[in-house]
Amino acid sequence: NTKRFQDIIAHCKEYGFIFPSSEIYDGLSAVYDYGQFGAQLKKNIKDHWWRWMTQLHENIVGIDAAIFMHPTTWKASGHVDNFNDPMIDNKDSKKRYRVDTLIEDFAEQLVDEGKEAEAQQLLQQMNELLKLNDLAGLKKLIEQYKICCPVSGTCNWTEVRQFNLMFSTQLGSVNEEATEIYLRPETAQGIFVNFLNVQKTGRLKIPFGIAQIGKAFRNEIVARQFIFRMREFEQMEMQFFCRPGTELEWYAYWKEQRMQWHQSLGIPADKLRYHDHEKLAHYANAAVDIEYAFPMGYKEVEGIHSRTDYDLRRHQEFSGKKMQYFDPEINKSYIPYVVETSVGLDRTVLMVISEAYAEEEVPTAQEGKTDTRTVLRLAPHLAPIKLAVLPLVKKDGLPDIARKIMHDCMPAFHCFYEEKDTIGRRYRRQDAIGTPFCVTVDYQTKEDETVTIRYRDTMQQERIPIRAIRDKVRQAIQ
Ligand code: GAP
Repeated sequence: NTKRFQDIIAHCKEYGFIFPSSEIYDGLSAVYDYGQFGAQLKKNIKDHWWRWMTQLHENIVGIDAAIFMHPTTWKASGHVDNFNDPMIDNKDSKKRYRVDTLIEDFAEQLVDEGKEAEAQQLLQQMNELLKLNDLAGLKKLIEQYKICCPVSGTCNWTEVRQFNLMFSTQLGSVNEEATEIYLRPETAQGIFVNFLNVQKTGRLKIPFGIAQIGKAFRNEIVARQFIFRMREFEQMEMQFFCRPGTELEWYAYWKEQRMQWHQSLGIPADKLRYHDHEKLAHYANAAVDIEYAFPMGYKEVEGIHSRTDYDLRRHQEFSGKKMQYFDPEINKSYIPYVVETSVGLDRTVLMVISEAYAEEEVPTAQEGKTDTRTVLRLAPHLAPIKLAVLPLVKKDGLPDIARKIMHDCMPAFHCFYEEKDTIGRRYRRQDAIGTPFCVTVDYQTKEDETVTIRYRDTMQQERIPIRAIRDKVRQAIQ
């Protein structure tokens, strides 16, 4: 599975999906750039989420708030005081580790050695200490199990310290006048501070939701696993405002809805599961993750949290502005309760690619021989390119016909024109980027205005009239 994961990372780079950031300078840890096909795939996922949330629910609207916010926002939200990870440094290697990751990796080793019960006990002890925020206890646990630094091999550790995950920068040019501000670690607060602006201008009645897609930043210490844990990433979040006391019903509703959405990306139900939180975040009264079976195991893609009135109440306290809603149905004012759905866009991209990536043996023209083909079986509505148009040869007027097909189809969906190389190689390149349909223009096309259409998943081919191409593709991507 590690090999499969490495193959996927290499594939993403080779075929223009995802590159390490500033690669010519050897990259920047846990920061990535999306290439031509990755950016389109990501945009298709984003559009699908946006449509699902804001178009298919009549009581959800979308906004786009700024990344920079007033610094008091993060005091009110609790991020200044609570958005910390316990860290430990090895004195010999000078390497810094997140305590939970260090212990989890060690527990994995124990499992590999067949000591499952011991690993379970270790993890249970760790979770209890994390819940109590007992830093000295965590250090003792590391010593008790003789957990060493994977780099130096020594157990020469510093004390466990809290490390805030927010990035900060200065607003204003003159040092003395500059104010320290943060890059938002979640998009949610942009929604909370705009709650009344949106409710009043939109004349919205509770229950209603506000959705947003945008960048978030976290100074993750253990930056690894490709785009699974990044320092700059994108979230798609929705806050659903409801009457106090109804939040757990809505929580159950959104739990179910969001699971359906993941399946609408083409992810099979048996590769997704819920994981209830044992340790609740400082703002939540119920929380669950949706996890996907990545090549490196089940991991979180989305969090659904019942956040109570924590955020609005805190903003009311810190800003001195009322955050209340007047409910005409019960003739009462109150601070609404909030159920949040928060999905990582980059993690969703990784999930979709991991699910789609396949290597398979296929027959070749030579009898009895097979060849390996790499294919991305992306759901057609997510594929970056929907249709490749390929003239069989670069002469005899075939490219002109192919260009005309391009011209016809390009306004309806993304097309790709290619005339270089053998047709077999061109098909393989389209398989590798997940293009569901290829049409080939050949000599017969000149006689009867038909083309060969080839289907990515089955590799079957059939002849269809040129005039049928556009609708056929359009239907498949709806
Ligand atoms: N507003 C709630 C919130 O931010 P979270 O569980 O910390 O909750 C929500 O994050 C989602 O954002 C996660 O499920 C994950 O998909 C994504 N996410 C969080 N940190 C990330 C990181 N460092 N890199 C990529 N995605 C991340």
